[in-house]
Amino acid sequence: MATVATAATTTIPKLIPILLIILLSTTLTSAKSNNNFSKTLSPKSLGLKKQKLSHLHFYFHDIVGGKNPTAVRVAQAAMTNKSPTLFGVLVMMDDPLTMQPEPSSTPVGRAQGIYSSASQSETALLMVMNFAFTHGKYNGSTLSVLGRNAVFNTVRELPIVGGTGLFRFASGYAQAKTRTFDLKSGDAVVEYNVYVFHY
Ligand SMILES: *[C@@H]1O[C@H](CO)[C@@H](O)[C@H](O)[C@H]1NC(C)=O
Ligand SMILES: *[C@@H]1O[C@H](CO)[C@@H](O)[C@H](O)[C@H]1NC(C)=O
Repeated sequence: MATVATAATTTIPKLIPILLIILLSTTLTSAKSNNNFSKTLSPKSLGLKKQKLSHLHFYFHDIVGGKNPTAVRVAQAAMTNKSPTLFGVLVMMDDPLTMQPEPSSTPVGRAQGIYSSASQSETALLMVMNFAFTHGKYNGSTLSVLGRNAVFNTVRELPIVGGTGLFRFASGYAQAKTRTFDLKSGDAVVEYNVYVFHY
């Protein structure tokens, strides 16, 4: 009796890993046969280590006047000119981004995309743009912005919805603050503070 009991207690723990393997492999096989266009990856397999938070600070130059504008009106609605908010106007931009407020200061990239007047009751833009960085370690990396910009508010917040290169998996927000606005030409210099999580 005693020998049989001992044999059972030593055999069962030995079997547990084997049973686990059988269970696991059947689960894996069924998952594979059900769905072979996607699978779970470990973040390490993409070289993703620790998430970090970065703060970027730069100035955005929206040049609409003069001989070399960087933001141009490409479309508008029939009623745009009668609208106090220029509702329906669509502008394409390739605006320089610099380190300091002076346009001649070190370039860090371009803001490329569109903005349009999206409110009939206040001056609020829909902005869809990419910050394409050209300076230092972020050269070649981009951040994508999709947000609302009520341009006469002191500080506007726009979501960062993604990124590429060093900004893969980016998410965060940008705060925009107008430094100067030339009523005559319409040119503006806007200070940007961007807070972004990425790897
Ligand atoms: C996915 O499954 C289908 C149907 O079973 C098969 O024809 C196809 O080759 C599989 N694709 C891959 C990448 O394994
Ligand atoms: C940024 O990268 C491009 C392409 O690799 C290169 O031609 C350019 O000189 C770089 N710019 C700076 C400022 O490092």
